[in-house]
Amino acid sequence: MALLYPKKNIALHNTFILLFDYAKLITNITSLQYNHMRLENKTAIVTGAAQGIGKGIALKLAQEGADVVIWDIQTEKAEKSAQEIAQSTGRKIIAMPNVNITKLASVQEAVQKVIEMFGKIDILVNNAGIVRDASFLKMTEEQWQSVIDVNLTGVFNCSKAVAPFMSQAMYGKIINISSVVGIYGNFGQTNYVAAKAGVSGMTMVWGRELGKYNINVNAVAPGAIDTEMLATVPAPIREQMIQKIPVRRLGKPEDIANIVAFLASDEASFITGQTFVVDGGAYLGG
Ligand SMILES: NC(=O)c1ccc[n+]([C@@H]2O[C@H](COP(=O)([O-])OP(=O)(O)OC[C@H]3O[C@@H](n4cnc5c(N)ncnc54)[C@H](O)[C@@H]3O)[C@@H](O)[C@H]2O)c1
Repeated sequence: MALLYPKKNIALHNTFILLFDYAKLITNITSLQYNHMRLENKTAIVTGAAQGIGKGIALKLAQEGADVVIWDIQTEKAEKSAQEIAQSTGRKIIAMPNVNITKLASVQEAVQKVIEMFGKIDILVNNAGIVRDASFLKMTEEQWQSVIDVNLTGVFNCSKAVAPFMSQAMYGKIINISSVVGIYGNFGQTNYVAAKAGVSGMTMVWGRELGKYNINVNAVAPGAIDTEMLATVPAPIREQMIQKIPVRRLGKPEDIANIVAFLASDEASFITGQTFVVDGGAYLGG
């Protein structure tokens, strides 16, 4: 009888040790999950990543483990972005000079180089965009055409050049940066709104057509994001814009980069053909 208590104690002690080890195992698994990079071994192209939202996206994709190729017409700025991102993430970040997305031949040549360097393209983020605002009655043909060329034809060209490689590999993620104004219009932006609505339209078509090749195509429609593009808006108008945003602030490039990283990951593999509004609730009105 006297021996029974120590035995019981030993059993209890062993149970505690087992529980302790189990708790440690769960903690380790959880922390591994948190540290897990969703885009390891992926190759991504981000257009217009010399600054603004594109730069934020390139940084986030690299933080998630992807190697990133930057296509931008601002060669020096693109080079600087690439260096900064490579230094902070340790990933391979390449800024390819003089890739003009309005020219299909230029884009196809660049795609060949990316394939030679990395052997594959897993992710394409069509982010490059411009504005040339004027009210409809004053808008010139040049203002119309330049915005359509970059914001609509540019998205077509890059996707057209990359999709054959993705379909052959039976893997791909295309994320198009649209805009909320492509959904509800905006004064002075006939060209921009037409292009962005077109981008969301192409996203639906490609979602339907490319799904069977395991390619997901989605769009993100940002509201007002604080970048160089928005810096042209006078301060009082920016203040008015903020008052119309329920979360009472402008968006940051990271706000867009976070959803792009999710859509580029396999966590989003059952999502395609969609446009996601990221605007701090401004679309709700009021
Ligand atoms: N900033 C906003 O409030 C906002 C809101 C909605 C949507 N967007 C969209 O987000 C995207 C990024 O916007 P941003 O605010 O970062 O703009 P930005 O002007 O700061 O950056 C755009 C980048 O695209 C590059 N670019 C322009 N023409 C190009 C071409 N022909 N080929 C290659 N690169 C080219 C520019 O050099 C620049 O680096 C755009 O598509 C824009 O329409 C922005």
